[in-house]
Amino acid sequence: MKQRKEKTIFSAIQPTGNITIGNYFGAIKNWVQLQPDFNCIFSLADLHAITVRKDPEEFKQKALEAYALLLACEINVEKSLLFIQSQVNTHCQLAWMLSCCTEFGELARMTQFKDKSSSHSDNVNCGLFSYPVLMLSDILLYRADFVPVGQDQKQHLELTRTVAERFNFLYGPTFTVPEPYIKRGAKIKSLRDPTKKMSKSDPDLNSRIELLDSPDKIMKKIKRAVTDPENHVKYGENKDGINNLMTIYSCTTGKTLDEIEKEFDGIGYGEFKTTVAEALIEHLAPIQKNYSKIIKDKGYIKNCYKDSAEEALNISNETLNEVKKK
Ligand code: AMP
Ligand code: TRP
Repeated sequence: MKQRKEKTIFSAIQPTGNITIGNYFGAIKNWVQLQPDFNCIFSLADLHAITVRKDPEEFKQKALEAYALLLACEINVEKSLLFIQSQVNTHCQLAWMLSCCTEFGELARMTQFKDKSSSHSDNVNCGLFSYPVLMLSDILLYRADFVPVGQDQKQHLELTRTVAERFNFLYGPTFTVPEPYIKRGAKIKSLRDPTKKMSKSDPDLNSRIELLDSPDKIMKKIKRAVTDPENHVKYGENKDGINNLMTIYSCTTGKTLDEIEKEFDGIGYGEFKTTVAEALIEHLAPIQKNYSKIIKDKGYIKNCYKDSAEEALNISNETLNEVKKK
């Protein structure tokens, strides 16, 4: 991280499944745009991912691919840190200490825990329960001022603030109390059920567009996206499918919803879908091109994550040592 800016941003993403346009427009694109103005520290949260059992070889490969894809999206390791969580030991160490400052009841109230423990009732492990303690340790180690995430992570950030304030109160000022940085808008929905968010773990592949989908696949998935019988491109109630396609088109072209309604006045869904798919294909082309170059150069990828992990260790060790002393 070359330049020290006044404020620091921390965020992370799990290297599970293939990154979707939901992750991209909801999170990663914001990260890229924040780089010129903040000290940016980003992480691939592989330790968070193992609350669900993984095939070891496949998991390793996915982490490498996710890392390369973040580089291809223009997370710039000259300006920002992009490290793999398990390579920086301070995270688990702080997590243990801070788990002693977190109440059982606070963790039991987390909606993500409640949802995931009911949807994976065959493997409700302690990691799933204490997941937020590792997450708040990720953030507090770097004294982050802002944490850009989607709406779904807001409750975990509130807990981060509570635990930071509790520690500061008990042992004296130590942690920066971070603010969530939640961008309104770009919440991308499933193409098959546009009342649900687009998710990289949805078993239906047609529900999502992955950043590395071929043009042909993108066209087919958009063509099959659920709409409504109206055949009128307009943002509104009971039009979740069209609202979602308009949001995707707006994210790719920068056009407003009003402009989009005007552009497609009198034009049917068939032609609208083709235009959305073409815009998306064009938008993703440079990322896909970067990715295919980067993924061939394992040496480069390794250098990037090793350098970032080393610097992350230096920064986070300072915080960890201060906490240990206290
Ligand atoms: P996850 O896929 O749960 O690892 O999420 C990684 C990041 O992407 C988080 O900041 C999420 O809030 C964000 N995200 C995930 N899915 C979507 C979506 N469909 N629309 C917008 N943001 C999303
Ligand atoms: N829990 C986050 C998610 O599923 C990923 C994550 C782990 C994270 N550690 C973090 C996000 C720290 C922000 C800050 O999306």
